[in-house]
Amino acid sequence: MNQYIMKGGNPLVGEVQISGAKNAALGILAASIMTDEDVVIDNLPDVRDINVMLEAIQEIGARVDRLDRHTVRINASTIHEVSVDDDYIRKIRASYYLIGALLGKYKSAEVPLPGGCNIGSRPIDQHLKGFRALGAKIEIERGAVVAHAIDLVGGHIYLDVVSVGATINIMMAAALAEGQTILENAAKEPHVVDVANFLNSMGANIKGAGTDIIRIRGVRSFHGTEYSIIPDQIEAGTFMCGAAVTRGDITVKNVIPKHLEAISAKLLEIGCEVIEGDDEVRVVGRPRQHSTNIKTLPYPGFPTDMQPQMAVTLALTEGTSMIAESIFENRFKYVDELTRMGGNIKVEGNVAVIDGVKGFTGAQVETPDLRAGAALVLAGLAAEGFTVVDEIGYIQRGYECFAEKLKKLGACIEIVDSEKMANKFRLKVG
Ligand code: UD1
Repeated sequence: MNQYIMKGGNPLVGEVQISGAKNAALGILAASIMTDEDVVIDNLPDVRDINVMLEAIQEIGARVDRLDRHTVRINASTIHEVSVDDDYIRKIRASYYLIGALLGKYKSAEVPLPGGCNIGSRPIDQHLKGFRALGAKIEIERGAVVAHAIDLVGGHIYLDVVSVGATINIMMAAALAEGQTILENAAKEPHVVDVANFLNSMGANIKGAGTDIIRIRGVRSFHGTEYSIIPDQIEAGTFMCGAAVTRGDITVKNVIPKHLEAISAKLLEIGCEVIEGDDEVRVVGRPRQHSTNIKTLPYPGFPTDMQPQMAVTLALTEGTSMIAESIFENRFKYVDELTRMGGNIKVEGNVAVIDGVKGFTGAQVETPDLRAGAALVLAGLAAEGFTVVDEIGYIQRGYECFAEKLKKLGACIEIVDSEKMANKFRLKVG
């Protein structure tokens, strides 16, 4: 029963190093099995989802050597299985990337249907539509996607919804198909571009990633590469909100400021100071911050993965804010928990109406999903008194050393696994 326990009230102040992007890394790790040569991947975040993906590719026969905490060498020449049959792979949504990777390389894949965060219905029809357009036969059998192709042949694919996962998955399979694939209405997220750059570094011919039309000219095979993953936009955004919500002063280091523009723009709108450097962004919270409205959208719009952290921030501003969630239908589950801390938020359909309050009070709250969990930690750090956040396994799926990084910024937070430890913490910090 690991929990975070914290005593709120300290402004978060200082510098924090941002880890590699989890969502880029998941695609890149899957893609790394598409060559028989060595692939070395650096700036890998040490978080649970990544470790599950590494175990999954090891399980089907790839060799994975950890060179250090953030660097792995993968050699997939020893893969003996195209069937990913493991309970834990269902725990990470991104296991679906193994369909595109295996199908591209071996023309055959069997991968359990994904699980992951509980933020609403998450179909993968667009992924499957793309694979079928490349000539694969797809069935759903015994809870798994079973894909086979005699040959994959490039095609013209129009995505009905802008999907990060479908864009990456189709791009991987098409990169080893015959001829040209044109993928329209593609997602433009930084991690789509990062996976495309990684594939290109292995010899793929992908143009246009980062725009809504991606052109992929298939090649026969890939070679080995060394690649460093981009910084995590959402981890950076979470700490930026941490500065705003605790009225602190945080510099997020090792970031690409352009990827953070939607977040920076909203923090500026509510009255924070935001100073961009070459590879850092400093956010200074202000005692009086005011309301704004947000709609989550595909990149370059405001990211849905920052919606809960921004809601916590807005809940402590003056005035009434509105957040429209347009990507996932079930992403306001943290609202009841925040209400227990004194937040004043009403949800109507896909819109949250947030009436700012002067402060939160500590409570025991439960993490409904990864980003909401991080948001509740931010709320606890701004609250009066003690907050206990349960189910922190969700948070550890995506944030490396979250408590340690927060502590370095002055937070009073600890991971505990028993009531006895929690009481010890309470006594120690008073
Ligand atoms: C990825 C991210 C996730 C982020 C999301 C949106 C990873 C591992 N996860 O998730 O953190 O919240 O992008 O930025 O990178 N959809 C369909 N059919 C499909 C695929 C998607 O209808 O075949 C819909 C989804 O229900 C959702 C929208 O498209 O409403 C966007 O989903 P998508 O971009 O695919 O999200 P993921 O790739 O699952």
